[in-house]
Amino acid sequence: MWRDLLAASAMLVFLSTGCGENAWNNDWRTDMWYQPSLRPQHAPRPEPEDSVPVQGVIVADERDDLEDLPDPVQRDAASIARGERLFSTRCVACHGKEGHGGGPVSKVFPPAPDLCFPSIRARSDGFLFATLTLGGRAMPSQKEGLTVHDRWDVVNFIRHLQAITPVPSGGKTQ
Ligand code: HEC
Repeated sequence: MWRDLLAASAMLVFLSTGCGENAWNNDWRTDMWYQPSLRPQHAPRPEPEDSVPVQGVIVADERDDLEDLPDPVQRDAASIARGERLFSTRCVACHGKEGHGGGPVSKVFPPAPDLCFPSIRARSDGFLFATLTLGGRAMPSQKEGLTVHDRWDVVNFIRHLQAITPVPSGGKTQ
């Protein structure tokens, strides 16, 4: 009787250690079903506590959150040239060839403003970067296909465009 009971409880212990989805590290089965990898649609594992991102992921929900972000890319001729190239493929359809508005898409979409308007000159670099990253009130996000560095190059190009364009006296001050 005692021997039976002992055998039964040993069996119970044996069974209860090997089963269960989290018991992969001491599971005795070799069919690879129980293993540390995540199943499709499982939530990703949380980062270990106190870990710090090292790849510079920028997290922001609103443009205002990035207002104070400084421009890390030097505004030199190479960056401006890269920004201009990206601008000519990504922005001219709405903001126009010279960046002063009136691109063809603006006829069928909320019109994109002249990027030299005083209100846009007054924005911080971080806010311009955030507009490209998150989009504006009507403007769609331009993040896809543009790296963080690319977006700063475009910001540098906008600043250059503003610097070489005289501020309109009167007229458009939007
Ligand atoms: C599909 C059309 C479209 C494209 C493409 C587009 N924009 Fe815009 N953009 C708009 C519209 C419309 C607005 C004004 C309304 C708003 O803020 O969303 C705007 C606003 C802006 C502003 C002003 C934001 C502010 O509130 O001060 C900046 C700066 C800007 N765009 C830069 C760019 C740059 C740079 C690109 C290319 C990487 C680009 N846009 C691509 C439509 C577009």
